[in-house]
Amino acid sequence: MTSSSAPGKIILLGEHAVVYGRPALAVPVSQVQATATVQSAEAGIWIHAPQVNVQEELSNLAPEHPLAATVHHVLATLHISAPPPLQIRIESDIPVASGLGSGAAVSVAVIRALAAFLGQPLDDETVNALAYEIEKLHHGTPSGIDNTVVAYAQPVYFVKGKPIERLRVGKPFTLIIGDSGIPALTRDSVAAVRRLWESAPSRYERIFDAIASLVQTARRALENGDIAALGPLMNENHALLRDLTVSSPNLDRLTEAARAAGAWGAKLSGGGRGGNMIALAPPEAIEAIQQALWQAGAKRVIVTQVTHSTH
Ligand code: PMV
Repeated sequence: MTSSSAPGKIILLGEHAVVYGRPALAVPVSQVQATATVQSAEAGIWIHAPQVNVQEELSNLAPEHPLAATVHHVLATLHISAPPPLQIRIESDIPVASGLGSGAAVSVAVIRALAAFLGQPLDDETVNALAYEIEKLHHGTPSGIDNTVVAYAQPVYFVKGKPIERLRVGKPFTLIIGDSGIPALTRDSVAAVRRLWESAPSRYERIFDAIASLVQTARRALENGDIAALGPLMNENHALLRDLTVSSPNLDRLTEAARAAGAWGAKLSGGGRGGNMIALAPPEAIEAIQQALWQAGAKRVIVTQVTHSTH
């Protein structure tokens, strides 16, 4: 039996613009995890994922089903045409469709556990490349940021198509993640931004550039351990995401509540229109911000400590 776990992730700054070649910053969230366990079975290849109501033989799932595609990709990469009978069990406490990278975490956990069970463990780079293929099924035109943060389980400075750059975090800090409880598909918000960009490219290119410049400033602040300086940059990034029409009344309410309770800054995180927001919390305001988020209607609140590395 082999087992592998992968963390969730959260985007600090730069979502959406990252689809258009701009940089973004993201960090793993190890409080939530996806775990895949592979063991021998009597016959066939079985996939059991209770959270998404899947209990199927591989051959009964459409080849483009993300879980089936993950297995097919791993087998093809390992050049295994007649795999032994096995069962893959997937457990995850990462909420789906909420910007915490649940799809990428499940892919990474399954890829690692299956390859290890078949006696050919894969390196991070290959795991990442395979998980990116699956992200395309989830998202349409993903930048690849989710699979990268999750596969390496490290804070990253990410530019689409470029080799991974680890993000140095000069000083640990606390993020509070508030879930609006409204599921929203990243695929839809990415498509909506694409329509806007097609209708007025220069206007949206300017917004993407403004986001990129916030990301560069934030990267320097983080490296220097100047955490408080990140707050206003997050607030500005949220305003630009509103211009991209990917915020929502709930996300605006949650970010305002966090700021009023003492957060250095707050913004939506991920695809938007629902899903999560993040607040950057000074140590003395952690308690108050959590309470403010619950009161403003958050359906789940996670406090996470960001350090330079999770392993
Ligand atoms: O919704 P999430 O956290 O999976 O993040 C999506 C980030 C986007 O920039 C909106 C899309 C992408 O592929 O990078």
